Amino acid sequence: MRIVHKVSDLHTELSDWRAGLESVALVPTMGNLHAGHASLVKRARQLGECVVVSIFVNPLQFGPHEDFERYPRTLAADAKLLEAEHADVVFAPAVADMYPAGYPPLTSVHVGGTVAETLEGDFRPGHFTGVATVVNILFNLVQPRVAIFGEKDWQQLQVIRRMVADLGMPVRIVGMPTLREADGLAMSSRNQYLQPDERARAPLLHAALQAVATATAEGRRDFDVLCAEQKAVLENAGFRPQYLEVREPDLTPPREDSARLVVLAAAHLGATRLIDNVSLRL
Ligand code: PAF
Repeated sequence: MRIVHKVSDLHTELSDWRAGLESVALVPTMGNLHAGHASLVKRARQLGECVVVSIFVNPLQFGPHEDFERYPRTLAADAKLLEAEHADVVFAPAVADMYPAGYPPLTSVHVGGTVAETLEGDFRPGHFTGVATVVNILFNLVQPRVAIFGEKDWQQLQVIRRMVADLGMPVRIVGMPTLREADGLAMSSRNQYLQPDERARAPLLHAALQAVATATAEGRRDFDVLCAEQKAVLENAGFRPQYLEVREPDLTPPREDSARLVVLAAAHLGATRLIDNVSLRL
């Protein structure tokens, strides 16, 4: 496994693979890797002959009062995990390598519409533009045939799918199921911000989503009431929910004839912002 920081070194590494016409699978990450990321790399290993993992805490997708500065940077531990997962190339650039003409870039990729401008888009203005822009840059640099993302960031996955479809990008997007701790909490780098008492309550977010999903599977369609009930449960447990909603997989409002729905939520617990979702087939 090779770890490169510079774009020129990335090109040198990849040119050897490309010369052999090997297909590249990319796993974009912000590092601080856990078992959820490992599952993405395992899938990449099945889908591509060369597995590239990028590690870059992208300032462009963080709001001014978000956790960019304190986001955990753990390259040495990440490299161990990636070595064990048989990644071929780790690309860990600095901000100046990713935005060589200057930061912030003058060019960005903005995905509009319901897919990007509701839920996370409402509470994190500019976030998906930051994500779409950096993922676009990564696709340009790495030129993967396939890229793998976690379904924990369900809306992000749909935004990227839409960007790829709108811009005719020659890359297949693969989503992988969320990995959970034994108590149901979705694995996330941000879980380590939780104080012990918050960590004990954190699985209630998944439980609330699951309660809405179960009631929906049993036939309830009063989504506003259902979601309000579960938001109240979370508030009583000390969460500050931002949204808890039922949507079509593409984030549009639920239809009469929905075949699949997704329940999505974001909530603060202490100083930590947690997001999660569960999907259900009807
Ligand atoms: O999901 C993430 O870790 C990030 O949003 C991504 C896709 C690596 C872009 O910075």
